[in-house]
Amino acid sequence: MRLKKTVSEIEPSWLTGRSVLVRADYNVPVKDRYITDDRRIQLSLPTLELLLGAGAKVILLSHLGRPGGRVVPELSLAPVVDRLGSLLGMPVEFITDTDPSKQVSAAQEASSEQLLMLENTRFNEGDLTNDSELAMAWARLGELFVNDAFGTTHRAHASTSGLAQAMVARGHEAVSGLLVARELRFLDEALRTPDRPLTAVLGGAKISGKIDVIDAFLSQVDRLLVGGAMANTFMRALGFETGSSLVEENSVELAAELIKKGADQLVLPVDFVVAKEIKAQADTRVLDRSKISMGDRIVDIGPKTRAHFTEVIEWSKSIVWNGPMGVFEIESFSKGTIEIAHAVADACDRGSLGIIGGGDSGAAVEKAGVASRVTHVSTGGGASLKLFSGATLPGIESLTNR
Ligand code: 3PG
Repeated sequence: MRLKKTVSEIEPSWLTGRSVLVRADYNVPVKDRYITDDRRIQLSLPTLELLLGAGAKVILLSHLGRPGGRVVPELSLAPVVDRLGSLLGMPVEFITDTDPSKQVSAAQEASSEQLLMLENTRFNEGDLTNDSELAMAWARLGELFVNDAFGTTHRAHASTSGLAQAMVARGHEAVSGLLVARELRFLDEALRTPDRPLTAVLGGAKISGKIDVIDAFLSQVDRLLVGGAMANTFMRALGFETGSSLVEENSVELAAELIKKGADQLVLPVDFVVAKEIKAQADTRVLDRSKISMGDRIVDIGPKTRAHFTEVIEWSKSIVWNGPMGVFEIESFSKGTIEIAHAVADACDRGSLGIIGGGDSGAAVEKAGVASRVTHVSTGGGASLKLFSGATLPGIESLTNR
């Protein structure tokens, strides 16, 4: 991927008094108007502080959830406006109108305010369809576009790549924010020439959604450790009984091909924790992979697998991890995921590079209390997977080259 210009390369004196559009990813978990995890908001602060410190007027855009192009009050960005205001210690003017021309006039009227936020971009259908008129309307709001929404860079939406293109068409620049620059430094640049051995750990439910990533990993990594429900499909391909576990029936053949292709790198579980049902009080048993029978449900990797995966991680100089090893939200099914989190953190303490690809694995390192010990925890689940698979990210591609 070509290197992109970042906001820190813009002359601070040029920023003074200018209106700058910032696309952030404030798609955060909200329960009863309360934000339960504000990491994405916290990590957006450096870019905002840089711009505000230079005297720019900042207009923020973000989506929240998937409202499907209509106004869904529960998906309003109002809680984000409040949290951002208290983190920055300054008022945030909230523009609740979703009509783009009204948003432009509201933003212009609020000329004395330094920080403004538009309501959920996905309340406009045109955001998802990358409507060029909508992007052009938003582009009228500023003289510089900063994309700091790493978690959304794999989407070609009006508020991401569309807006960048519209800004460039108007003769302005579109640059990356500090968060995006940091993500790319670790996820893209650091993995291009990694210290070896390089190990990838992949989990989560579906092989089908991660074929490109598995393929890309198999041609790059020294070891690919597979856990989570996707391992069940590999078990079926090896001819083992999987009981009532989640299996992607139409990916079994594909799994068999990947086993052949990855003969030297692929490391599959040899034992599992099983339960009769997915609930907190369910009894669990540890079974060898050949001993699973009807009615057993695989919920985690077993102790032999945990020990072997840990050993491989210990020996690795670079580790990339995406996807949990089991149903880690339930305490008694979380050992595999938590042990992997500790193994990666221990490896980082010894000087290895440990990259966590966002989403559930990001939540797992938080739960294990080791997030601060790993090299980098990405804010983007889908975006980091796309990057690992070697695909280009439209939200990045559309930015000005360095
Ligand atoms: C995410 O949380 O992965 C990003 O905000 C993208 O959200 P989306 O999958 O709804 O596009």
